[in-house]
Amino acid sequence: MSEPASPTEVIERAFETHTPNQVAISFSGAEDVVLVDMACQISDEVRVFSLDTGRLHPETYEFIERVRDHYGVEIDVLTPDAEALDAFVKEKGLFSFFEDGHQECCGIRKIEPLQRYLEQVDGWITGQRRDQSPTRAEVPQIQEDTAFSNDRRTLMKYNPLAEWSSAQVWDYIRENEVPYNKLHDQGFISIGCQPCTRPVGPNMHERAGRWWWEEATQRECGLHAINIQE
Ligand code: ADX
Ligand code: SF4
Repeated sequence: MSEPASPTEVIERAFETHTPNQVAISFSGAEDVVLVDMACQISDEVRVFSLDTGRLHPETYEFIERVRDHYGVEIDVLTPDAEALDAFVKEKGLFSFFEDGHQECCGIRKIEPLQRYLEQVDGWITGQRRDQSPTRAEVPQIQEDTAFSNDRRTLMKYNPLAEWSSAQVWDYIRENEVPYNKLHDQGFISIGCQPCTRPVGPNMHERAGRWWWEEATQRECGLHAINIQE
């Protein structure tokens, strides 16, 4: 496929290459809902998952359920390994990321459950866009996911919104009356876990509200580690 293709064409390509139930949409509970909307127009076997870190906003949990009802899709809500999480919280408490960075907490609450889940599929679809961050400036629409592939198989990663701007995503949401997270009406643009996300002011970059106490070049939690490795 020559780039740029439309987001829908990228999703179609993923479904044709792997069959819809071998590709999972990674839904954060934010504006990446457009992927669910587009995919549901292509197939009725859409597979969606959300990483429930245990630290999401109440509005995000409500939104995940709203999307489940609205589209009639199953959403796999993934939880961290209980033993690893218990040990981590016992040793470091609930806010260690403000002291020594978010990598360890994200590793337990997001990356390990993601890795386990991705073993079941041949590809995954994410809402990454190039305009989101310096770490995403080169994100292609389709790539091999070298971070999560292994000896047994190559995992493909699809980023249908790579070429789109935030404005295009929001035009799509409004034009198609797509449901959205209520936090977006309260100044939140990029939405992650509650303690690690804050609203941004006028003219601030959308990811300025994510892990704001860390360097912008380090603001990947490992879901998209290949953006930093490559
Ligand atoms: S993050 O890595 O910094 O948290 P961001 O919030 O920008 O990522 O979202 C980029 C894409 O990563 C989302 O569109 C989604 O595909 C995936 N993603 C992020 N957080 C989650 C989550 N909690 N559950 C499922 N997918 C997620
Ligand atoms: Fe932990 Fe914050 Fe990462 Fe969520 S975003 S998993 S609370 S460090």
